[in-house]
Amino acid sequence: MPAIVIGRDFDDLKKYGEKGAIFFGKHIVGTGEDAHLTSPVLIDVLRPHVIAICGKRGQGKSYSMMIFLEELSKLPDEIRDNLCALVVDTQGIFWTMKSPNEQQISLLNEWGLKPRGFDVHVLIPEGQKEIFDKADVNYDDVFYIMPNELTPEDWLNVFELSPIETEGIVLQRALGKLMKDKKEYTIDDIINYLKEEKGFEREKLVVENYLLAAKQWGVFGPRKQTVSDLILQPGKMTILDVSITPQNVRSLVVGLLSKQILEERIKARRKEEAAKIEEIKIKRTPMCWILVDEAHNFVPAKGKTPSSDIFSKIVKEGRQPGITTLFATQRPNKLHPDVLAQCDLVISYRLTAKADIDALRAIMQTYVLFDIATYFNELPRVKGAGLILDDNSERIYRIRSRPRQSWHAGSSPVAI
Ligand SMILES: Nc1ncnc2c1ncn2[C@@H]1O[C@H](COP(=O)(O)OP(=O)(O)O)[C@@H](O)[C@H]1O
Ligand SMILES: [Mg+2]
Repeated sequence: MPAIVIGRDFDDLKKYGEKGAIFFGKHIVGTGEDAHLTSPVLIDVLRPHVIAICGKRGQGKSYSMMIFLEELSKLPDEIRDNLCALVVDTQGIFWTMKSPNEQQISLLNEWGLKPRGFDVHVLIPEGQKEIFDKADVNYDDVFYIMPNELTPEDWLNVFELSPIETEGIVLQRALGKLMKDKKEYTIDDIINYLKEEKGFEREKLVVENYLLAAKQWGVFGPRKQTVSDLILQPGKMTILDVSITPQNVRSLVVGLLSKQILEERIKARRKEEAAKIEEIKIKRTPMCWILVDEAHNFVPAKGKTPSSDIFSKIVKEGRQPGITTLFATQRPNKLHPDVLAQCDLVISYRLTAKADIDALRAIMQTYVLFDIATYFNELPRVKGAGLILDDNSERIYRIRSRPRQSWHAGSSPVAI
C-alpha cells in the first residue's frame, strides 16, 4: 500500500520520494468498530517544521515524542549526521529509551517491529549529581550555565520581579555596573555589587536571598559550556532531564540553550551558503530538533517565562536556520497562540475540554470538511489513535501511531 507522506511538498516528494520521511503510524480507514489500519503514515524530516502534539493526559503525547526520536536515530547516516535533537524532559522519563520495550512485545509483533534500545545522551544539571546518584538514576553528562549568560531581563523573569518595583530596580542597577566591569562573573559577584548600591536595605536583602537561593538550583557552573560541544553534534540525541528543577529555572535553562542553538545555526547557515557559492566542502553543524514536553509551561498563552520570547522567535524564524520545534501539551489552549499559528503539523489525540478543541478548530481554518469534534468522535478507542493536521497538503488524517521500540516510562502506575 503506498505510504502517505506528511509535511512534504510536491517538489520534494518528486525529488526525494519517501527518503528522509520517518514512519510514524498508520492511516485509519472506517469508523468505530469497522475502523482498520491501512497505509503507513510517514512524516518529513528533511525540512524544518513546527509541530504540536496535543491530547488529554495519558493519550500518548510523550510516547509520540519518542517515536520521533527513535525514528531520527534510525535514519541512514547521510541524513542523520545532518541532524541532532534536544529533548526537554520535565518528568525524568525519557532515559528509558536506552532499553528495549519489553512491555508491548505482542503489539510490536503485529506491527512487524522489534524491541530495541537506542543511543541517547542524558544530561542533568551539574549541581544535582548527588541527588541523581543517590536515586540510582543513570546519566551521561552534566550541563551548566554561567550567571553572565543571563540578561538582566532573564534575572527579573526567573525571580518573577517587575522592572519597575524597587527590588527589580536595585538588581538591574547592580547588574548594569557589574556587566560594565566584568565579562564573566559569579553569583557572589552579583551579591557584592548589590551590597554596594546605596540605600534600599530591605529590598537588597530580599534580592540577596533570591540570589542565594539561585546558587542552590544546581544549574550554575564554573565556565561556559557551548551548545556546539554539548548538543550540536552529528546524529546526537540529547535528553535534558530537568525533572527536579523548578519550572521557572527550567524555562531559564531551556530558553538559554535554545537561544544559543538558534545563534549557532544562524552562523552555520551563513557558512553553508558561502561554501555552496564557492563550491567548497565544510564541516556542517547539524540542524537541530528541539522537543519540549509540557510545552504550555514554557510558552504559555498568559504571562511570560524566561523561555517565552526565544520560542516565539524560533517558531517564526527558525526554519531558515534549520531548527525544528516540537511542542507537546495537554492544553493547546494554554499554549501561546503564536506557536499554534506557526505549526505546519499538528498531531492531536483525543481532547475533551471545549477551549482546547476550539484552539485546534481555529488553526484548522477552512480545509476540513467536518467539525473537528466529529473527527475525534469517529476515532477508535485504542491507544495512539489520533488526528494529524497537515498544513502543507491542507488535509486531516486519522491515524494510529506506531508502538515504541524502546521502553516507555510515562504510563500511570496501577494499584493492583
Ligand atoms: N501508539 C501507541 N501504541 C500503544 N500504546 C500507546 C501508544 N501511545 C500511547 N500508548 C500508551 O499510552 C500510555 C500513555 O502515553 P503517554 O505518552 O505517557 O501519555 P501523555 O499523553 O500523558 O504524555 C503509554 O504508557 C502507552 O502504554
Ligand atoms: Mg506526557
